[in-house]
Amino acid sequence: HPHVHRSAAFARLDPAVHLPELTQLVGGPAGVAPQDAMDFHNTDWQGRYRGASSLALLPSTPQQVAAVLKYCSDHQLAVVPQGGNTGLVGGSVPVFDEIVVSTARMNKIRSFNAVTGVLECDAGCVLETLDNYLLPRNHTMPWDLGAKGSCHIGGNVATNAGGLRLLRYGSLHGSILGLEVALTDGSILDTMSSLRKDNTGYDLKQLFIGSEGTLGVITGVSVLTAAKPKSVHVLYIGCESFATVQTIFSEAKQRLGEILSACEFQDAPSLNLVLQYIPNTRNPLSASHPFYVLIETSGSNETHDLEKLDSFVEFLYDNKISSDAVASQDISQVKAIWQLRENVASAMKRQGEVWKYDLSLPISQMYPLVEELRTRLPREPGVLAVGYGHLGDGNVHINVVAPTRSESVHNAIEPFIYEWTQKHRGSVSAEHGLGFTKAHCIGYSKPPRAISLMHNIRSLFDPKGILNPYKVLPHD
Ligand code: FAD
Ligand code: MLT
Ligand code: ZN
Repeated sequence: HPHVHRSAAFARLDPAVHLPELTQLVGGPAGVAPQDAMDFHNTDWQGRYRGASSLALLPSTPQQVAAVLKYCSDHQLAVVPQGGNTGLVGGSVPVFDEIVVSTARMNKIRSFNAVTGVLECDAGCVLETLDNYLLPRNHTMPWDLGAKGSCHIGGNVATNAGGLRLLRYGSLHGSILGLEVALTDGSILDTMSSLRKDNTGYDLKQLFIGSEGTLGVITGVSVLTAAKPKSVHVLYIGCESFATVQTIFSEAKQRLGEILSACEFQDAPSLNLVLQYIPNTRNPLSASHPFYVLIETSGSNETHDLEKLDSFVEFLYDNKISSDAVASQDISQVKAIWQLRENVASAMKRQGEVWKYDLSLPISQMYPLVEELRTRLPREPGVLAVGYGHLGDGNVHINVVAPTRSESVHNAIEPFIYEWTQKHRGSVSAEHGLGFTKAHCIGYSKPPRAISLMHNIRSLFDPKGILNPYKVLPHD
């Protein structure tokens, strides 16, 4: 990391002194990751960042986490909280030799109330495991993302993950009813509420949602789950222009109303990469198109929902908005169509080096930015920009892929893409967070006074600055 230096304020791990003491705090050797797991703990999902930590701790209780944080704070040892390590901004891996504190061994479901739908669980529960627990109990998690098979609920909270269901269920700021958080002073902040409504003072849990491991380590989560929808359908629609993509979204809101549960889009190059790299995928439409819209409906009455869907497709055809749309016929087709959108990230990764941007922008500005960016990129083989994302949430993902990490590609994108986003009053991180990659970018979306208050809040919770240093807020 040429532009970042290891802070001299931090001690180096002394294997003779610190290791036995930390091992004891996590209940013995089972609480320490084996050396052959360090490659995993040091490397991010994209394979872009590689830390040099020699220690990953696997505490099994909130008390152990709190004790570790106090010890590290007292001994000026830097720490990286880590969940499933699927983060996309380098926030979950050490920059230098920080100690990894992983939630992997804290994976118990604590309680579930089938009447209220409130689930309480440890922070290390894997998202998909939680959904699989809930489905036979007629409930489902109120968020979903392509990383569901490995991301932890604590990591989802720490990044305020958006994903594929935000249009229906809103953000985690609404779904999370309570948190349990281990703090650097060795205390445990217990706000594990199951109340929908609670106006007693400042809502502290909200601070930890999206805090990216800089304020404390989340150890427990209380979440308001959703009733499992009885009838789920997906439409995949070919579109000739981005104007049509927008028309489909606004018509879908009007015509599908309360059953509309997701509205995503992807451009042709992003679909083509999925078809190329992800086994068992195919374009279900009769032809290729410049854009595709994925619409999901979730409701409680199959007949009613199908009627609405049919008349929506008819409307698209009659008004020449699209002439090529396909509706899922069963749950396996629902999954197959979702694969086309969910796998863009994995397909991009296989194609080469990826620059990822996740922006909130006015919908009309999303694709003009992709097009303008393309004109700036060096005309070299294998350099490609794609656009896809959560249309219904005003969140576009722009990815540039190139055969190698080249400076000319980088300089063609940045700072242009950030300045453009700022000019249109967008956000430079709609959902992935700032992490390490974008710690210097917050100023494009937040005013100086907000950033200085964030620094104050951070030092209130972490006076020694040991939690996820070099991340989220500008340093130096
Ligand atoms: P990690 O990657 O381990 O950590 C992420 C950040 O949270 C780090 O800063 C870490 O320090 C901190 N952290 C982790 N656990 C804790 C904890 N218990 N307490 C405090 N801090 C903690 N994101 C979206 O928003 N929407 C998407 O649609 C989406 N799709 C994705 C698809 C794929 C294929 C992949 C690989 C990623 C995707 N992401 C998406 C990125 C997203 O941020 C993560 O997948 C997820 O929320 C991170 O969870 P994790 O457990 O892997 O956290
Ligand atoms: C997505 O929406 O697919 C995820 O946020 C991952 C990505 O941006 O590639
Ligand atoms: Zn996304």
